[in-house]
Amino acid sequence: MDERETALRRAAELGIEYLRGVHRRPVGARADAARLRERLGAGPVPTEGTDAMRVVEELARAVEPGLVASAGPRYFGFVIGGSLPASVAADWLTAAWDQNGVLHAASPAAAAAEQVAGEWMLELLGLPPEASFGLPTGAGLGNAVGIAAGRHAVLAREGWDVEARGLYGAPEIRVVIGDEAHATILTALQYLGLGRERVIRVAADGQGRMRPDELARTLAQLDGPVIVLAQAGNVNSGAFDPMPGIAEAVSARPNAWLHVDGAFGLWAAASPRLRHLLEGVERADSWSTDAHKWLNVGYDCGFVAVRDAESHRAAMTGSGAYLMQNREQRDNWDWVLDSSRRARGFTLYAAIRSLGRDGVRQLVERCCDLAARMAEQLAAADGVEVLNEVILNQVLVRFRDDDDSTRRVIARVQDDGTAWLGGTTWQGRAAMRISVSGWATTETDADASVQAILRAYRAA
Ligand SMILES: Cc1ncc(COP(=O)(O)O)c(C=O)c1O
Repeated sequence: MDERETALRRAAELGIEYLRGVHRRPVGARADAARLRERLGAGPVPTEGTDAMRVVEELARAVEPGLVASAGPRYFGFVIGGSLPASVAADWLTAAWDQNGVLHAASPAAAAAEQVAGEWMLELLGLPPEASFGLPTGAGLGNAVGIAAGRHAVLAREGWDVEARGLYGAPEIRVVIGDEAHATILTALQYLGLGRERVIRVAADGQGRMRPDELARTLAQLDGPVIVLAQAGNVNSGAFDPMPGIAEAVSARPNAWLHVDGAFGLWAAASPRLRHLLEGVERADSWSTDAHKWLNVGYDCGFVAVRDAESHRAAMTGSGAYLMQNREQRDNWDWVLDSSRRARGFTLYAAIRSLGRDGVRQLVERCCDLAARMAEQLAAADGVEVLNEVILNQVLVRFRDDDDSTRRVIARVQDDGTAWLGGTTWQGRAAMRISVSGWATTETDADASVQAILRAYRAA
Protein backbone atom coordinates (compact mmCIF):
# COMPACT_ATOMS: atom_id res chain seq x y z
CA MET A 1 0.00 0.00 0.00
CA ASP A 2 1.28 3.48 -0.75
CA GLU A 3 1.18 6.41 1.67
CA ARG A 4 -2.17 7.62 0.36
CA GLU A 5 -3.87 4.30 0.77
CA THR A 6 -2.57 3.63 4.29
CA ALA A 7 -3.63 7.12 5.41
CA LEU A 8 -7.12 6.80 3.94
CA ARG A 9 -7.65 3.34 5.39
CA ARG A 10 -6.47 4.49 8.80
CA ALA A 11 -8.75 7.54 8.66
CA ALA A 12 -11.69 5.29 7.82
CA GLU A 13 -10.83 2.95 10.73
CA LEU A 14 -10.50 5.84 13.14
CA GLY A 15 -13.77 7.36 11.96
CA ILE A 16 -15.61 4.08 12.30
CA GLU A 17 -14.10 3.46 15.75
CA TYR A 18 -15.16 6.93 16.86
CA LEU A 19 -18.72 6.49 15.64
CA ARG A 20 -18.96 3.01 17.16
CA GLY A 21 -18.26 4.46 20.60
CA VAL A 22 -19.90 7.86 20.22
CA HIS A 23 -22.92 6.93 22.35
CA ARG A 24 -20.64 5.93 25.24
CA ARG A 25 -18.36 8.96 25.42
CA PRO A 26 -19.19 12.05 27.51
CA VAL A 27 -21.30 14.17 25.21
CA GLY A 28 -19.56 17.47 25.90
CA ALA A 29 -15.87 18.16 25.23
CA ARG A 30 -13.36 17.37 27.97
CA ALA A 31 -10.72 19.88 26.89
CA ASP A 32 -10.86 23.46 25.72
CA ALA A 33 -9.09 24.91 22.71
CA ALA A 34 -6.25 26.36 24.77
CA ARG A 35 -5.28 22.84 25.91
CA LEU A 36 -5.79 21.34 22.50
CA ARG A 37 -3.39 23.85 21.00
CA GLU A 38 -0.63 22.28 23.06
CA ARG A 39 -1.65 18.77 22.07
CA LEU A 40 -1.58 19.82 18.42
CA GLY A 41 1.99 21.08 18.82
CA ALA A 42 1.30 24.82 18.55
CA GLY A 43 4.43 26.75 17.70
CA PRO A 44 6.57 27.25 14.63
CA VAL A 45 5.69 25.31 11.47
CA PRO A 46 7.49 21.94 11.62
CA THR A 47 10.54 22.05 9.40
CA GLU A 48 10.11 18.57 8.05
CA GLY A 49 7.02 16.82 6.83
CA THR A 50 5.42 13.77 8.47
CA ASP A 51 4.08 10.59 6.92
CA ALA A 52 0.36 10.98 6.08
CA MET A 53 -0.82 8.05 8.21
CA ARG A 54 1.07 9.32 11.23
CA VAL A 55 -0.45 12.77 10.72
CA VAL A 56 -3.93 11.26 10.68
CA GLU A 57 -3.30 9.18 13.80
CA GLU A 58 -1.70 11.98 15.77
CA LEU A 59 -4.37 14.46 14.74
CA ALA A 60 -7.11 12.08 15.90
CA ARG A 61 -5.33 11.47 19.21
CA ALA A 62 -4.61 15.16 19.80
CA VAL A 63 -8.14 16.48 19.30
CA GLU A 64 -9.98 13.54 20.87
CA PRO A 65 -10.77 15.22 24.24
CA GLY A 66 -12.06 18.30 22.45
CA LEU A 67 -14.58 16.47 20.29
CA VAL A 68 -18.26 17.08 20.96
CA ALA A 69 -20.47 14.04 20.49
CA SER A 70 -23.02 15.78 18.28
CA ALA A 71 -23.02 12.66 16.10
CA GLY A 72 -24.32 10.72 19.11
CA PRO A 73 -27.84 10.24 20.43
CA ARG A 74 -27.89 12.59 23.45
CA TYR A 75 -26.70 15.87 22.03
CA PHE A 76 -29.44 18.51 22.29
CA GLY A 77 -27.44 21.71 21.87
CA PHE A 78 -28.23 24.61 19.51
CA VAL A 79 -30.07 22.98 16.56
CA ILE A 80 -27.37 20.67 15.32
CA GLY A 81 -28.42 17.11 14.51
CA GLY A 82 -26.05 14.25 13.72
CA SER A 83 -25.03 12.89 10.37
CA LEU A 84 -26.66 9.96 8.65
CA PRO A 85 -24.41 7.03 7.71
CA ALA A 86 -25.00 7.57 3.99
CA SER A 87 -24.15 11.24 4.33
CA VAL A 88 -20.89 10.58 6.22
CA ALA A 89 -19.88 7.96 3.67
CA ALA A 90 -20.73 10.25 0.76
CA ASP A 91 -18.74 13.01 2.45
CA TRP A 92 -15.67 10.76 2.56
CA LEU A 93 -16.09 10.13 -1.15
CA THR A 94 -16.56 13.85 -1.76
CA ALA A 95 -13.19 14.45 -0.12
CA ALA A 96 -11.54 11.67 -2.10
CA TRP A 97 -13.02 12.89 -5.38
CA ASP A 98 -11.96 16.50 -4.64
CA GLN A 99 -14.58 18.03 -6.92
CA ASN A 100 -14.96 21.78 -7.07
CA GLY A 101 -18.69 22.54 -6.87
CA VAL A 102 -18.37 25.92 -8.56
CA LEU A 103 -19.17 25.29 -12.23
CA HIS A 104 -20.41 22.54 -14.52
CA ALA A 105 -17.05 22.79 -16.30
CA ALA A 106 -15.24 21.99 -13.05
CA SER A 107 -17.41 18.96 -12.22
CA PRO A 108 -20.49 17.80 -14.14
CA ALA A 109 -20.93 15.20 -11.38
CA ALA A 110 -21.20 17.89 -8.69
CA ALA A 111 -23.63 19.88 -10.84
CA ALA A 112 -25.84 16.87 -11.47
CA ALA A 113 -25.94 15.76 -7.82
CA GLU A 114 -26.84 19.26 -6.70
CA GLN A 115 -29.56 19.48 -9.35
CA VAL A 116 -31.20 16.19 -8.40
CA ALA A 117 -30.87 16.70 -4.64
CA GLY A 118 -32.15 20.28 -4.92
CA GLU A 119 -35.23 19.15 -6.85
CA TRP A 120 -35.88 16.57 -4.14
CA MET A 121 -35.55 19.29 -1.51
CA LEU A 122 -38.19 21.43 -3.23
CA GLU A 123 -40.53 18.45 -3.28
CA LEU A 124 -39.93 17.45 0.35
CA LEU A 125 -40.36 21.02 1.56
CA GLY A 126 -43.49 21.67 -0.50
CA LEU A 127 -41.88 24.59 -2.37
CA PRO A 128 -42.70 25.55 -5.98
CA PRO A 129 -41.05 23.01 -8.31
CA GLU A 130 -39.95 25.77 -10.67
CA ALA A 131 -38.04 27.66 -7.93
CA SER A 132 -34.29 28.06 -8.38
CA PHE A 133 -32.08 26.83 -5.56
CA GLY A 134 -28.55 26.79 -4.23
CA LEU A 135 -26.58 25.05 -1.51
CA PRO A 136 -24.87 27.65 0.68
CA THR A 137 -22.84 26.69 3.76
CA GLY A 138 -25.92 27.07 5.94
CA ALA A 139 -29.28 28.73 6.45
CA GLY A 140 -27.56 31.89 7.64
CA LEU A 141 -25.96 32.49 4.26
CA GLY A 142 -29.15 31.16 2.68
CA ASN A 143 -30.87 34.10 4.32
CA ALA A 144 -28.30 36.43 2.75
CA VAL A 145 -28.95 34.88 -0.68
CA GLY A 146 -32.75 35.16 -0.37
CA ILE A 147 -32.54 38.75 0.80
CA ALA A 148 -30.07 39.61 -1.98
CA ALA A 149 -32.53 38.22 -4.53
CA GLY A 150 -35.25 40.34 -2.90
CA ARG A 151 -33.00 43.40 -2.96
CA HIS A 152 -32.47 42.85 -6.69
CA ALA A 153 -36.18 42.37 -7.45
CA VAL A 154 -37.63 45.29 -5.50
CA LEU A 155 -35.03 47.72 -6.86
CA ALA A 156 -35.34 46.42 -10.43
CA ARG A 157 -39.05 47.24 -10.21
CA GLU A 158 -38.00 50.82 -9.34
CA GLY A 159 -35.71 50.89 -12.38
CA TRP A 160 -32.49 50.48 -10.35
CA ASP A 161 -29.79 47.90 -11.07
CA VAL A 162 -28.38 47.28 -7.61
CA GLU A 163 -25.72 44.79 -8.66
CA ALA A 164 -24.21 47.30 -11.07
CA ARG A 165 -24.76 50.54 -9.19
CA GLY A 166 -24.81 49.50 -5.56
CA LEU A 167 -27.08 51.14 -3.02
CA TYR A 168 -25.72 54.71 -3.27
CA GLY A 169 -28.56 56.85 -4.55
CA ALA A 170 -30.94 53.87 -4.81
CA PRO A 171 -34.58 54.13 -3.71
CA GLU A 172 -34.65 53.25 -0.02
CA ILE A 173 -35.69 49.70 0.83
CA ARG A 174 -37.53 49.31 4.11
CA VAL A 175 -36.72 46.01 5.79
CA VAL A 176 -39.25 44.62 8.25
CA ILE A 177 -38.45 41.77 10.64
CA GLY A 178 -40.13 40.09 13.58
CA ASP A 179 -38.80 40.92 17.03
CA GLU A 180 -37.57 37.34 17.31
CA ALA A 181 -35.69 37.16 14.00
CA HIS A 182 -32.58 34.97 14.12
CA ALA A 183 -29.16 36.59 14.51
CA THR A 184 -28.18 35.56 10.96
CA ILE A 185 -30.96 37.73 9.54
CA LEU A 186 -29.17 40.72 11.02
CA THR A 187 -25.78 39.59 9.74
CA ALA A 188 -27.30 39.10 6.28
CA LEU A 189 -28.55 42.70 6.39
CA GLN A 190 -25.13 43.88 7.49
CA TYR A 191 -23.44 42.08 4.56
CA LEU A 192 -25.92 43.49 2.06
CA GLY A 193 -25.70 47.17 2.98
CA LEU A 194 -29.25 47.17 4.29
CA GLY A 195 -28.14 47.89 7.84
CA ARG A 196 -28.75 45.79 10.91
CA GLU A 197 -30.03 48.71 12.95
CA ARG A 198 -32.30 50.46 10.49
CA VAL A 199 -34.72 47.54 10.33
CA ILE A 200 -38.29 47.99 11.44
CA ARG A 201 -39.18 45.47 14.11
CA VAL A 202 -42.66 44.02 14.47
CA ALA A 203 -43.77 42.80 17.89
CA ALA A 204 -43.85 39.08 18.55
CA ASP A 205 -46.27 37.17 20.78
CA GLY A 206 -45.46 35.05 23.84
CA GLN A 207 -44.17 32.18 21.69
CA GLY A 208 -42.00 34.46 19.56
CA ARG A 209 -44.34 34.61 16.52
CA MET A 210 -44.48 37.82 14.49
CA ARG A 211 -47.90 39.45 14.92
CA PRO A 212 -49.55 39.82 11.51
CA ASP A 213 -51.87 42.61 12.68
CA GLU A 214 -48.80 44.59 13.77
CA LEU A 215 -47.12 43.81 10.46
CA ALA A 216 -50.12 45.07 8.48
CA ARG A 217 -50.17 48.25 10.59
CA THR A 218 -46.43 48.76 10.05
CA LEU A 219 -46.61 48.19 6.29
CA ALA A 220 -49.51 50.63 5.96
CA GLN A 221 -47.21 53.40 7.22
CA LEU A 222 -44.40 52.74 4.74
CA ASP A 223 -43.77 53.92 1.20
CA GLY A 224 -41.57 52.40 -1.48
CA PRO A 225 -39.98 48.97 -1.78
CA VAL A 226 -40.21 46.62 1.16
CA ILE A 227 -38.55 43.35 2.18
CA VAL A 228 -40.30 41.37 4.94
CA LEU A 229 -38.38 38.65 6.74
CA ALA A 230 -40.51 35.99 8.40
CA GLN A 231 -39.47 32.92 10.34
CA ALA A 232 -40.59 29.30 10.31
CA GLY A 233 -39.23 27.77 13.51
CA ASN A 234 -37.97 30.06 16.27
CA VAL A 235 -34.50 28.96 17.39
CA ASN A 236 -35.68 28.85 21.01
CA SER A 237 -39.36 27.96 21.05
CA GLY A 238 -39.75 26.34 17.62
CA ALA A 239 -42.76 28.63 16.98
CA PHE A 240 -43.83 29.59 13.45
CA ASP A 241 -44.72 33.08 12.30
CA PRO A 242 -48.34 32.91 11.07
CA MET A 243 -47.75 32.91 7.34
CA PRO A 244 -51.30 33.35 5.98
CA GLY A 245 -51.67 36.76 7.66
CA ILE A 246 -48.10 37.76 6.84
CA ALA A 247 -48.38 36.76 3.18
CA GLU A 248 -51.68 38.63 2.97
CA ALA A 249 -50.19 41.82 4.38
CA VAL A 250 -47.16 41.60 2.09
CA SER A 251 -49.17 40.87 -1.04
CA ALA A 252 -51.22 44.03 -0.44
CA ARG A 253 -48.04 46.05 -1.14
CA PRO A 254 -47.20 47.09 -4.71
CA ASN A 255 -43.49 46.30 -4.41
CA ALA A 256 -42.58 43.86 -1.66
CA TRP A 257 -40.56 40.68 -1.19
CA LEU A 258 -41.22 38.04 1.45
CA HIS A 259 -38.37 35.82 2.62
CA VAL A 260 -38.79 32.98 5.12
CA ASP A 261 -35.99 31.83 7.42
CA GLY A 262 -36.90 28.20 7.97
CA ALA A 263 -33.53 26.85 9.08
CA PHE A 264 -35.14 23.84 10.70
CA GLY A 265 -38.87 24.65 10.80
CA LEU A 266 -39.34 24.19 7.05
CA TRP A 267 -38.84 20.46 7.65
CA ALA A 268 -42.30 20.32 9.22
CA ALA A 269 -43.43 20.14 5.58
CA ALA A 270 -42.18 16.55 5.44
CA SER A 271 -44.85 15.45 7.91
CA PRO A 272 -48.58 15.42 7.11
CA ARG A 273 -49.14 15.76 10.86
CA LEU A 274 -47.05 18.94 11.19
CA ARG A 275 -47.48 20.53 7.78
CA HIS A 276 -50.30 22.76 8.98
CA LEU A 277 -47.69 24.80 10.90
CA LEU A 278 -46.39 26.01 7.55
CA GLU A 279 -49.70 26.98 6.00
CA GLY A 280 -49.15 29.91 3.64
CA VAL A 281 -45.35 29.54 3.53
CA GLU A 282 -45.52 28.65 -0.16
CA ARG A 283 -46.70 32.20 -0.84
CA ALA A 284 -43.27 33.64 0.01
CA ASP A 285 -40.70 34.69 -2.60
CA SER A 286 -37.67 32.97 -1.06
CA TRP A 287 -36.89 30.39 1.61
CA SER A 288 -33.80 29.32 3.48
CA THR A 289 -33.22 26.12 5.41
CA ASP A 290 -30.52 23.70 6.47
CA ALA A 291 -29.79 20.13 5.55
CA HIS A 292 -27.11 19.92 8.24
CA LYS A 293 -29.65 20.47 11.00
CA TRP A 294 -32.75 18.32 10.84
CA LEU A 295 -32.00 16.27 7.75
CA ASN A 296 -28.81 15.12 9.50
CA VAL A 297 -26.47 15.79 6.63
CA GLY A 298 -22.95 16.35 8.02
CA TYR A 299 -21.53 19.86 8.06
CA ASP A 300 -21.93 21.86 5.97
CA CYS A 301 -25.05 22.06 3.83
CA GLY A 302 -27.66 24.80 3.67
CA PHE A 303 -30.41 25.27 1.09
CA VAL A 304 -31.96 28.39 -0.39
CA ALA A 305 -34.81 28.54 -2.90
CA VAL A 306 -36.17 31.51 -4.83
CA ARG A 307 -39.43 31.65 -6.77
CA ASP A 308 -38.08 34.10 -9.34
CA ALA A 309 -34.97 32.41 -10.72
CA GLU A 310 -33.87 35.46 -12.68
CA SER A 311 -33.73 37.66 -9.57
CA HIS A 312 -31.83 34.90 -7.81
CA ARG A 313 -29.29 34.52 -10.58
CA ALA A 314 -28.91 38.28 -11.08
CA ALA A 315 -28.16 38.75 -7.38
CA MET A 316 -25.53 36.00 -7.24
CA THR A 317 -23.76 35.34 -10.46
CA GLY A 318 -20.58 36.88 -11.74
CA SER A 319 -18.59 36.30 -14.89
CA GLY A 320 -15.06 35.94 -16.14
CA ALA A 321 -13.69 35.19 -19.58
CA TYR A 322 -11.98 31.97 -18.47
CA LEU A 323 -14.88 30.54 -16.47
CA MET A 324 -16.63 28.56 -19.22
CA GLN A 325 -20.05 29.27 -17.73
CA ASN A 326 -22.79 27.17 -19.19
CA ARG A 327 -26.42 28.26 -19.42
CA GLU A 328 -27.38 24.83 -20.80
CA GLN A 329 -26.17 23.08 -17.66
CA ARG A 330 -26.22 23.90 -13.97
CA ASP A 331 -23.48 26.20 -12.72
CA ASN A 332 -23.79 26.06 -8.94
CA TRP A 333 -22.03 29.42 -8.66
CA ASP A 334 -25.12 31.13 -10.09
CA TRP A 335 -27.07 30.46 -6.91
CA VAL A 336 -24.85 31.11 -3.88
CA LEU A 337 -22.30 33.63 -2.60
CA ASP A 338 -19.26 31.40 -2.71
CA SER A 339 -17.39 30.38 -5.86
CA SER A 340 -14.95 27.47 -5.39
CA ARG A 341 -16.38 25.19 -2.77
CA ARG A 342 -17.05 21.69 -1.55
CA ALA A 343 -19.49 19.75 -3.75
CA ARG A 344 -22.30 19.62 -1.19
CA GLY A 345 -24.77 17.94 -3.52
CA PHE A 346 -23.28 14.48 -2.96
CA THR A 347 -24.00 14.37 0.77
CA LEU A 348 -27.43 15.91 0.35
CA TYR A 349 -28.28 13.39 -2.35
CA ALA A 350 -27.04 10.51 -0.18
CA ALA A 351 -29.01 11.61 2.88
CA ILE A 352 -32.32 11.99 1.03
CA ARG A 353 -31.80 8.79 -0.95
CA SER A 354 -31.02 6.79 2.19
CA LEU A 355 -34.11 8.01 4.05
CA GLY A 356 -36.63 8.36 1.27
CA ARG A 357 -39.75 10.43 1.77
CA ASP A 358 -40.98 8.10 4.53
CA GLY A 359 -37.69 8.19 6.36
CA VAL A 360 -37.58 11.99 6.38
CA ARG A 361 -41.14 12.10 7.73
CA GLN A 362 -40.27 9.57 10.44
CA LEU A 363 -37.12 11.44 11.41
CA VAL A 364 -38.99 14.73 11.83
CA GLU A 365 -41.93 13.18 13.68
CA ARG A 366 -39.70 11.08 15.95
CA CYS A 367 -37.76 14.16 17.06
CA CYS A 368 -40.99 16.02 17.80
CA ASP A 369 -42.40 13.06 19.72
CA LEU A 370 -39.22 12.81 21.78
CA ALA A 371 -39.27 16.55 22.51
CA ALA A 372 -42.86 16.23 23.74
CA ARG A 373 -41.91 13.21 25.85
CA MET A 374 -38.98 15.02 27.48
CA ALA A 375 -41.11 18.12 28.08
CA GLU A 376 -43.84 16.07 29.73
CA GLN A 377 -41.44 14.24 32.04
CA LEU A 378 -39.64 17.42 33.03
CA ALA A 379 -42.81 19.41 33.62
CA ALA A 380 -44.04 16.69 35.98
CA ALA A 381 -41.23 17.46 38.46
CA ASP A 382 -41.83 20.04 41.17
CA GLY A 383 -40.22 23.40 40.48
CA VAL A 384 -39.60 22.61 36.81
CA GLU A 385 -41.45 24.68 34.23
CA VAL A 386 -41.62 24.23 30.46
CA LEU A 387 -41.83 27.75 29.05
CA ASN A 388 -42.90 27.12 25.47
CA GLU A 389 -45.70 25.30 23.70
CA VAL A 390 -43.84 22.22 22.49
CA ILE A 391 -45.19 22.06 18.96
CA LEU A 392 -41.96 20.97 17.28
CA ASN A 393 -38.55 19.73 18.45
CA GLN A 394 -37.63 22.56 20.84
CA VAL A 395 -38.16 22.63 24.61
CA LEU A 396 -37.40 25.55 26.95
CA VAL A 397 -37.10 24.62 30.61
CA ARG A 398 -36.71 26.75 33.71
CA PHE A 399 -35.86 25.58 37.22
CA ARG A 400 -37.21 27.03 40.50
CA ASP A 401 -38.29 30.05 38.44
CA ASP A 402 -34.80 31.40 38.99
CA ASP A 403 -32.05 32.44 36.57
CA ASP A 404 -29.11 31.28 38.69
CA SER A 405 -30.65 27.89 39.49
CA THR A 406 -31.42 27.36 35.82
CA ARG A 407 -27.88 28.21 34.76
CA ARG A 408 -26.47 25.94 37.47
CA VAL A 409 -28.57 23.01 36.26
CA ILE A 410 -27.37 23.56 32.68
CA ALA A 411 -23.72 23.64 33.79
CA ARG A 412 -24.14 20.47 35.87
CA VAL A 413 -25.77 18.59 32.99
CA GLN A 414 -22.95 19.61 30.68
CA ASP A 415 -20.42 18.51 33.24
CA ASP A 416 -22.12 15.18 33.93
CA GLY A 417 -21.67 14.16 30.29
CA THR A 418 -24.78 12.00 29.85
CA ALA A 419 -26.29 14.65 27.60
CA TRP A 420 -25.39 18.10 26.35
CA LEU A 421 -27.73 21.05 26.02
CA GLY A 422 -27.31 24.79 26.17
CA GLY A 423 -28.99 27.79 27.69
CA THR A 424 -30.74 30.90 26.48
CA THR A 425 -32.68 33.88 27.70
CA TRP A 426 -36.32 33.59 26.80
CA GLN A 427 -38.40 36.73 27.22
CA GLY A 428 -36.12 38.04 29.92
CA ARG A 429 -35.75 34.76 31.85
CA ALA A 430 -32.92 32.23 31.77
CA ALA A 431 -33.91 28.90 30.27
CA MET A 432 -32.43 25.55 29.30
CA ARG A 433 -32.78 24.81 25.57
CA ILE A 434 -33.37 21.25 24.41
CA SER A 435 -33.33 20.70 20.68
CA VAL A 436 -34.11 17.16 19.55
CA SER A 437 -32.63 17.04 16.07
CA GLY A 438 -30.53 13.89 15.82
CA TRP A 439 -31.46 10.80 13.82
CA ALA A 440 -29.91 8.49 16.43
CA THR A 441 -31.88 9.63 19.49
CA THR A 442 -34.21 6.97 20.91
CA GLU A 443 -36.75 6.97 23.73
CA THR A 444 -34.10 5.38 25.96
CA ASP A 445 -31.74 8.27 25.22
CA ALA A 446 -34.46 10.84 25.84
CA ASP A 447 -35.37 9.21 29.17
CA ALA A 448 -31.74 8.89 30.28
CA SER A 449 -31.22 12.56 29.43
CA VAL A 450 -34.28 13.62 31.43
CA GLN A 451 -32.95 11.63 34.38
CA ALA A 452 -29.58 13.37 34.04
CA ILE A 453 -31.32 16.76 33.98
CA LEU A 454 -33.40 15.95 37.06
CA ARG A 455 -30.31 14.64 38.89
CA ALA A 456 -28.54 17.88 38.11
CA TYR A 457 -31.57 19.88 39.23
CA ARG A 458 -31.76 18.12 42.57
CA ALA A 459 -28.06 18.60 43.17
CA ALA A 460 -27.94 22.22 42.03
C1 LIG B 1 -33.99 30.15 12.61
C2 LIG B 1 -32.54 30.03 12.24
N1 LIG B 1 -32.06 30.72 11.20
C3 LIG B 1 -30.78 30.64 10.81
C4 LIG B 1 -29.89 29.82 11.48
C5 LIG B 1 -28.46 29.78 11.03
O1 LIG B 1 -28.13 28.55 10.48
P1 LIG B 1 -26.63 28.20 10.07
O2 LIG B 1 -25.81 28.36 11.31
O3 LIG B 1 -26.72 26.80 9.62
O4 LIG B 1 -26.19 29.13 9.01
C6 LIG B 1 -30.33 29.09 12.58
C7 LIG B 1 -29.40 28.24 13.36
O5 LIG B 1 -29.76 27.67 14.37
C8 LIG B 1 -31.70 29.17 12.96
O6 LIG B 1 -32.19 28.44 13.97
